[in-house]
Amino acid sequence: MLETGQAPPLTSEPSRPVHPLMRRKPVEQLVAEGGQGEGGSLRRSLTMWQLTMISIGATLGTGIFVVLGTATPKAGPAVTISFVIAGLTALFSALSYAELAGSVPVSGSSYSYSYATMGELIAWICGWCLVLEYGVSVAAVAVGWGEYLNELLDGTIGVTIPDAVSAPLGDGGFINLPALVVVLLAMVFLMRGAKESARVNSIMVGVKIVTLLLFIGIGFMGIKAGNYAPLAPLGVTGISAAASTLFFSYIGFDAASTAGEEAKNPKRDLPRAIMLSLLIVTVLYVLVAFVAVGAMPWQDFEGTEAALAQIMTDVSGHTFWGVVLAAGAVVAIASVVFAVLYGQTRILFAMSRDGLVPKVFAKVNPKTGAPRANVVIVSLFCGALAAFIPLGKLADATSIGTLFAFGLVNVAVIILRRTRPDMPRTFKVALFPVTPILGVIACGYMMFSLDTATWIVFGGWMIAGLVFYFLYGIRRSRLATAEK
Ligand code: ALA
Repeated sequence: MLETGQAPPLTSEPSRPVHPLMRRKPVEQLVAEGGQGEGGSLRRSLTMWQLTMISIGATLGTGIFVVLGTATPKAGPAVTISFVIAGLTALFSALSYAELAGSVPVSGSSYSYSYATMGELIAWICGWCLVLEYGVSVAAVAVGWGEYLNELLDGTIGVTIPDAVSAPLGDGGFINLPALVVVLLAMVFLMRGAKESARVNSIMVGVKIVTLLLFIGIGFMGIKAGNYAPLAPLGVTGISAAASTLFFSYIGFDAASTAGEEAKNPKRDLPRAIMLSLLIVTVLYVLVAFVAVGAMPWQDFEGTEAALAQIMTDVSGHTFWGVVLAAGAVVAIASVVFAVLYGQTRILFAMSRDGLVPKVFAKVNPKTGAPRANVVIVSLFCGALAAFIPLGKLADATSIGTLFAFGLVNVAVIILRRTRPDMPRTFKVALFPVTPILGVIACGYMMFSLDTATWIVFGGWMIAGLVFYFLYGIRRSRLATAEK
């Protein structure tokens, strides 16, 4: 690890003059700068298991606890197959993430991979999409947390938080306080640095895995073979419609790639953490879905809020187990907020170090090794979104932004194999180039199956990003200042 706060001098690649939009940051430069911020360095403290926990932390939450309930009526008992299909789509991109994270282990994730391969403009667009994947999804997930909290309060003390303070304007309230509170709680822990954050995250991930295992154990006893027939009452169309909805539940497996500069042995551990987290999450999803549709007729999922809690109560005959599940869901969704917020701060850290967003995002607190100002700004932004904006459509925008970034990662693998064939790689995508090409196709297909309103939000977001880049980033970029 480089201990000084001084970044090495910058050069853009290649050395002949290139158009500013196409200037690329050499891989070696990216890696050499690893960890360095304004006035201090991030600390390398994370082990392979902690990295895996960060990815699981960012992934396993709203998708399985909430979205499963809305996807089941689309596919019937075959929703289990939909989980496998969505998982396979994620797998193509996960392989590409693993290859790049093993060779360019920095904190900017796909933003940095794009900077090394496709140039500054594409990198900026990718980073801007990552704000949708991370920043906006934090807000969306925080809103979901508030709903489960109400469920839990109702089940335990018979009280719910009134709409006026648990829903934003436009959704029948004034402010969504629970959503704001969970973001601010995450902020407090993140201020303490990666090591502490990882510890808190691992505990929360442990709780959510145990909750789902409990569900599988108890729910299994309520399985009735008849509930699986017919397996696919709504045909292949239903299965694939449910798969695109469920893709949301896999978003976040890439979060370990935002911890590249805080990992002890990033080249070895990042690829392992990404693949392992995807494997663990997929197995849990498929088992939970299999048990859920076996224990409750698929038609009953329509209109049932907190379906998993309902199944626990019905099968065990005690509301206690439903409450346990709701409590587990509260922790699970809080951990998604936490891990995703972490990822957002580290991506902005990398972008700030490159000069594309203001320097304050790369300031590191020398005592904790945490980018504190960054954490506060990002948390307040996400907290305000969660508190005041009804996030229905923005949540869909999360998926489209993520798919775009995943697509770029697959392209980056192909380019880097061609431009830097001899670069050491600790992990290589199997069946190259078939796998990354399938990854691009799968992401494109999923993007085009999203509705027009989502595309309009996405277009507006992109225009805002381009305006910011042409007013700010293009001139402030460290590659630009290095060229002068
Ligand atoms: N995959 C994350 C979740 O399901 C976004 O909550």
